[in-house]
Amino acid sequence: MEKTFSIIKPDAVKNGNIGKILAIVEENGFRIVAMRMTKLSKSQAEGFYAVHSERPFFNSLVTFMTEGPVVLLALEREDAVKKLREVMGATNPANAADGTIRKLFAESIERNSMHGSDAPETAAEELKYFFTGVDLNQL
Ligand code: CMP
Repeated sequence: MEKTFSIIKPDAVKNGNIGKILAIVEENGFRIVAMRMTKLSKSQAEGFYAVHSERPFFNSLVTFMTEGPVVLLALEREDAVKKLREVMGATNPANAADGTIRKLFAESIERNSMHGSDAPETAAEELKYFFTGVDLNQL
């Protein structure tokens, strides 16, 4: 079993798509290990996306990620990192396959409804960034 980290982003929360996205996630065999709805602070969003700090879209991305509530998720299944990225689809919804979360719900390459860790090592870091050991171990 592998864990991955995910965020249902402000566009999807605002558009009323939390339930539909969670249903797709569960239908694809993921167990929700921890979940929290919150509004990210500027420093939380900047820290989370620090790897992108030199990119031209960084400030806009931080503004977007702090504009409204998000849902933080710890998800578990076999091959969870790779499988979630398949279920989410390509970063740019214009390139996402039919039936993927981003094809169904995303508004643009920035407002793309969902984040998923890109590797098991990144998942471990991202899970630690938002969830305490208690949240992850109690279930
Ligand atoms: P995510 O998978 O969370 O990782 C980084 C985020 O930056 C990405 O989803 C998008 O929300 C955003 N992003 C990536 N590339 C671009 C881009 N070219 N223009 C604007 N936003 C982007």
